[in-house]
Amino acid sequence: MITGETDVYCIIGYPIRHSLSPAIHNAGFETNKLKAVFVPFALHPDNIEAGIEGLEALGVKGMTVTVPLKEQVFNYMDHIDEFAALTGAVNTVIFREGKKFGYNLDVAGVRYSLSKLGLSEGSKRAIVLGAGGAARAVIAALLFHKTEEIVILNRGIERAYALKDFFSDKTGLHLIADALNNSTLEEYLPASDIIVNTTSVGMYPNADASPLPKALIPSGIRILDAIYRPGKTKLLSAAEEKNCSTLSGLQWLVHQATLAFKLWTGKELDKKIVVDVLDGFFATKTTT
Ligand code: ATR
Repeated sequence: MITGETDVYCIIGYPIRHSLSPAIHNAGFETNKLKAVFVPFALHPDNIEAGIEGLEALGVKGMTVTVPLKEQVFNYMDHIDEFAALTGAVNTVIFREGKKFGYNLDVAGVRYSLSKLGLSEGSKRAIVLGAGGAARAVIAALLFHKTEEIVILNRGIERAYALKDFFSDKTGLHLIADALNNSTLEEYLPASDIIVNTTSVGMYPNADASPLPKALIPSGIRILDAIYRPGKTKLLSAAEEKNCSTLSGLQWLVHQATLAFKLWTGKELDKKIVVDVLDGFFATKTTT
């Protein structure tokens, strides 16, 4: 029940109706018997300053930030963590004692996934498919993982170059950017330690597509797919048939949700709760 003592948390994004965060965090509050509620706000990018000031003035305790606001929110923080600093994007905020603390837990989620796949620090070459917001978090995670060579392949080459320049300018490291097509895949995939798909190719409802032809998947390579719906994309199915180690975006999503919950409340968000919420949500969506 909501009372005068209820703490308020929120997610901002535009649009926001698709967000799973309210269901996940409210389940966590309930299980931990916390007097807290999590609500979604559609905040237009033009209103970002008024929105953040308003949330702070109203005493909101913390928030998650989703597309397209992560880069904008970065500019309003008083303190940022190292992952937010490297990506220039914030996905989690704590409002405390008149200050705004910004974190990028997407990067932590990716790092967790890289470890799950057994990618050791200092690996030679990683291929990143795509050049949007998810690619930004993946590249930052790979840089923290001390990956020697990062190759960004994107359908639109300008975006790949822009992302390469962004990280080269920040780190002084050399990254490679190129178009995403069969000939660049043939060029770069051999001698790679991991491929990370951050494109939306293969995502529900277009689950019959893959960003990478099966024939080009090197046997035994590690593949991380940022997509979590379906849990096993066409890319990951093909990769399993070629004895690859594979992981979907689910662990990444779950991990970053548990970290945010812990940051805000100091309590644990049981991973099973998150998975149950997601399963329930998708089951409902699939049958309606
Ligand atoms: P996110 O923030 O989740 O990464 P995004 O910014 O919309 O999402 O980026 C989606 C990525 O999927 C982009 O790299 C996009 O390529 P373009 O920059 O060329 O648009 C990629 N993508 C989407 N549909 C694609 C398709 N059919 N083939 C190849 N890449 C595709």
